[in-house]
Amino acid sequence: MSTLYAEKSFTLQQHSEQRLPVHGTSSRSSPLHVAIIMDGNGRWAQRRGQPRSAGHAAGAGNVRRLVRAAVELGVSTLTLYAFSSDNWQRPAHEVHALMRLMAEFLRVDTPDCVREGIRIAAIGRRDRLAPHLRAAIEAAEAATAEGTKLHLRIAVDYSSREAIYRAACRFYKATRVDHASFEEILGEVSHAPACNVDLLIRTGGEQRLSDFLLWEAAYAELYFSPLMWPEFNAEDLAAALEDFHARDRRYGALPGAVAS
Ligand code: FPP
Repeated sequence: MSTLYAEKSFTLQQHSEQRLPVHGTSSRSSPLHVAIIMDGNGRWAQRRGQPRSAGHAAGAGNVRRLVRAAVELGVSTLTLYAFSSDNWQRPAHEVHALMRLMAEFLRVDTPDCVREGIRIAAIGRRDRLAPHLRAAIEAAEAATAEGTKLHLRIAVDYSSREAIYRAACRFYKATRVDHASFEEILGEVSHAPACNVDLLIRTGGEQRLSDFLLWEAAYAELYFSPLMWPEFNAEDLAAALEDFHARDRRYGALPGAVAS
């Protein structure tokens, strides 16, 4: 083992010990990061004899409703999985429909988000997005930067594995090699600081993570709903939060050892 590698692994080990989460966030007053895998748009549409793109349009409408519901329910950060890097493999017309819906959401909803104190950010790669979508993201981020009610993070061209890999490549060359600096680099490659997820919801009846927030969700509580995304409403989000608040989060410690 090279000296460099030995030094790095020792430092990382020390820091991973220090960085175990130290707060149980089941308390209703704590900041709450909810992440959602919005699955089931296509099936929702197909069951109605409609094209998949109609399901995505209904899904975008539901994003608008659920963002407001999240504010009402006291969520402080909401990360939505809108387009994974693997979604590029879908037919061009579906990719196009999704990109158009995202650009429209950013263009139409940004003024309301400014008024309502909702700060918008996109996480994921930007270099493969169409220039008009990149511009819409940058404009929405700049206009809503002062928002403090809800941090709305939209994952676009996002792959958690790829982000971790890219961060690891940069970290290898970094001069500071501690846990905090790795997370900083991960934030840089994802265009948003890494931020621990408290509750990860997936709609659509499947039970997998699909390359979403693998680092940030290390201690997330998981909640799977059989509902398709367009039909998952504010009451369903409230029910997921009720379920979350009833859970005992121990982060690997013994009961009573985790400060809240
Ligand atoms: C997965 O359902 C959903 C997506 C790949 C896209 C999610 C996008 C939106 C909800 C709308 C656009 C987003 C914003 C932020 C305005 P699926 O199509 O894979 O569903 P299926 O499993 O039923 O086929």
